[in-house]
Amino acid sequence: MKWQSSFATGDAEIDRQHKALFETTEDYREVLSEGAGKNTHDGFLEFLQAYVEAHFGYEENCMHAARCPVAGRNKKEHAAFIKMLEKEAEVHSREGFSYARASVLLDSIDNWLASHICRIDVRLKDFTNTKV
Ligand SMILES: [Fe+2]
Ligand SMILES: [Fe+2]
Repeated sequence: MKWQSSFATGDAEIDRQHKALFETTEDYREVLSEGAGKNTHDGFLEFLQAYVEAHFGYEENCMHAARCPVAGRNKKEHAAFIKMLEKEAEVHSREGFSYARASVLLDSIDNWLASHICRIDVRLKDFTNTKV
């Protein structure tokens, strides 16, 4: 899935971080379709784990500082995403790579991104003046 202007939050740094996740997920989808998922799944999971730590923390601080009314909901949905990731990392370490599971993970990320950013993250726009 590609980043679109409807995903803009008004915070240039958050948008940059979102774009990085869209791009990396798109890249991994391509790698997977080329049959090279087995060699790159570990790296993709590591990227996601580092990403959520950095991005969620940054974004939660911004929302908290701006007293954004959806700050609590943002945190809750982030926690659910982290749980989903942890579950995949746990199954992956136990059972190894699975094309089917990797595809489900990518679809889950895309669905989550589309739903979460449009409903929650964009609410920051009302509290930021940054030009994007
Ligand atoms: Fe968020
Ligand atoms: Fe976000």
